[in-house]
Amino acid sequence: MGWLGLEGRRALVMGAGGLGAACTRALADAGARSAVVDVAEARLKSLRDDPALADAGVRVFPADVTTSEACEEAIAAAAGELGGLDVLVHAVGTNDRRPVVATPDEVWDRIVTLNLSSAFWAGRAAGRLMRAAGRGSMVFFSSVSSRLAHKHHAPYAATKGGLDQLVKVMAREWAADGVTVNAVAPGYTETELTRSYLDKPGMREEMAGLVPAGRLGTPDDVVGAVLFLASQRAAFVTGQVLYVDGGRTLV
Ligand SMILES: NC(=O)c1ccc[n+]([C@@H]2O[C@H](COP(=O)([O-])OP(=O)(O)OC[C@H]3O[C@@H](n4cnc5c(N)ncnc54)[C@H](O)[C@@H]3O)[C@@H](O)[C@H]2O)c1
Repeated sequence: MGWLGLEGRRALVMGAGGLGAACTRALADAGARSAVVDVAEARLKSLRDDPALADAGVRVFPADVTTSEACEEAIAAAAGELGGLDVLVHAVGTNDRRPVVATPDEVWDRIVTLNLSSAFWAGRAAGRLMRAAGRGSMVFFSSVSSRLAHKHHAPYAATKGGLDQLVKVMAREWAADGVTVNAVAPGYTETELTRSYLDKPGMREEMAGLVPAGRLGTPDDVVGAVLFLASQRAAFVTGQVLYVDGGRTLV
């Protein structure tokens, strides 16, 4: 048994993007039995085509998690496939950078639904199962935007601030049932979510200049925190937001 004790733990990763895929690979390396869902077939295909993940028995299936019913179904399907659910990693999210006065309702609603409502729906469904089993760990993706007032991030920042509070309330309600609920809050990390923004002339250097560590994050920088919080080593850690940001929130 490895130090984290994740062998055989049954994990659902929601989101096969840059961070979700990295978490899926790290969970497989740690010996967890995982399923992963995403709305984008291309993202799922890249995981399906990965021989290491196939060897680890990672199940991959499509789901659009923007309704309560879809989240309930995804949790139930994963628990059915895996024979229960010990770990939930919620790694879906989106952003749309605009000034507040240029943000239409459709953009606000879309970001709130995916970033925050899906976390509530998935957490509630997983919480029911984990409480009944008397154990479980959930890890959600917050962001440095939950704390910093970045311009042109109103819906995104609001959802991440809301997520931090959602995590704390779920953690408090379920602590006595052996269920931990935490969040990892990355700074700018190179994935599809940030690529077009960082590709603007000079932007990558400007953003890296704001980070005391002097560089942007990579998905591999984030997975250690996720695996720790998902593991029994963190059984007494709950309701926390762990910043993985090279010191970005210190300045
Ligand atoms: N990359 C960063 O710099 C960064 C920083 C802080 C926080 N985060 C957070 O980390 C999480 C993961 O971000 P990422 O960088 O991996 O982004 P990403 O864009 O690479 O991945 C997001 C994934 O969500 C999936 N998705 C979108 N809509 C969906 C839907 N309706 N149903 C199911 N899946 C859907 C996308 O297909 C994609 O695979 C997000 O919550 C994000 O806000 C990212």
